[in-house]
Amino acid sequence: MKFWKKYSTKIINKKIDDALKHVIDFENNKWLGFPVSKLDPNVFFNNIANLGDAPLLRSYIANPNNIGCHTYGTSEEAFKGAQDLEKEVIDVLAADIFKAEVGTYDGYIATGGTEANIQALWIYRNLFMKESKAKADEIVILSSEDTHYSIPKGSNLLQIDAVTIPVDFDSRIIVESDLENVIIQQKEKGKKYFIVVSNMATTMFGSVDNPDVYAHYLNKHDCPFKIHIDGAFGGFIYPFSNDNSTVNFANPNISSITIDAHKMLQAPYGTGVFLCRKGLIKNTLTKEAKYVEGLDLTLVGSRSGANAIAVWLILFKYGPNGWFEKINTLLLRTHWLCKQLDAKGIQYFRDPFMNIVTIKSEFISNHIAHKYGLVPATHDETNKWQKIVVMDHVEIDDLAPFIKDLDSFNS
Ligand SMILES: Cc1ncc(COP(=O)(O)O)c(C=O)c1O
Repeated sequence: MKFWKKYSTKIINKKIDDALKHVIDFENNKWLGFPVSKLDPNVFFNNIANLGDAPLLRSYIANPNNIGCHTYGTSEEAFKGAQDLEKEVIDVLAADIFKAEVGTYDGYIATGGTEANIQALWIYRNLFMKESKAKADEIVILSSEDTHYSIPKGSNLLQIDAVTIPVDFDSRIIVESDLENVIIQQKEKGKKYFIVVSNMATTMFGSVDNPDVYAHYLNKHDCPFKIHIDGAFGGFIYPFSNDNSTVNFANPNISSITIDAHKMLQAPYGTGVFLCRKGLIKNTLTKEAKYVEGLDLTLVGSRSGANAIAVWLILFKYGPNGWFEKINTLLLRTHWLCKQLDAKGIQYFRDPFMNIVTIKSEFISNHIAHKYGLVPATHDETNKWQKIVVMDHVEIDDLAPFIKDLDSFNS
């Protein structure tokens, strides 16, 4: 690990204090031109002296705006402290977790997985348009049928077509012959440039696509392509649970990755992360953002610097070993659940490196699914699956009564 460490509470507090010294102090300084101030003291508790051990609350009160992308070009001087912590987060994620060479990446903390995925689509659409003079109707997005709905959303916003590839019902693996047929058909329809979204854990199943399968067939048919990894859910688990994972920047087929801190990392909402290789993010430069120092390369505009600090706090409180231990506890509980289901002959899907167990709906009554808050694949009578996500709050003691209830339904 080049960047990722575990810090004591004392060091963490000191580092946040030091960072907040480099964020506008609205109390004591008169910055006349900024349309922002600290959180309204008439409404919000803001006695910072009483928040010594609550560095995140102190950061929210300071209210830094991390607008822009801080791994590229210059940034607003007024919020430097929060930007620097964000850059440390990007280093940990890109270099330590996703195996990029130091300094070969850009990234920022987006509003969530949706924005980070759309940022990727936006970059590649513009890249193909600028460098290859592609027309919008010559570009197509490929992803599996289990892909998150942010991809059709992005396709609609960016006005580029999207096609889904069928997966095998039981294994959730992309059907390679269908992928090849789709590529051939899309070429026949005039598509020349392909944007792939490969999942590092789908929302419903936790299934992980092999990005190299896409690369293989696109190369075979001489199609220019870029591959984005949607690791919104799996990004904080899969790299730790699967030592042999090739879903990272050491894989030359992969150009960008989404990872959501507000899912597995239990950060506040508004902490999706977008990472890409250097040289790509310039394709979404909005040069008209003239009042922003360094202009803007991101989709969102103003965004919370305190949220970036929240992600920093979690990463550096646990450190790599603490996080590894936490993930393994969740996987242990998931193994336990699967063992119980196996013993009862209840059919389900589970990627062995993930903490999602998706049970075939014929083995669960609607009453049980509702009682235990399972999430269906679709909220109608066509539903075939119900999922359990073994998060921090889902303990074996919570799973045991569910298993007992399943027994009575299936006996
Ligand atoms: C795989 C995947 N991608 C993207 C998203 C979208 O994330 P967000 O809701 O943070 O925009 C989700 C959300 O569940 C997801 O599971």
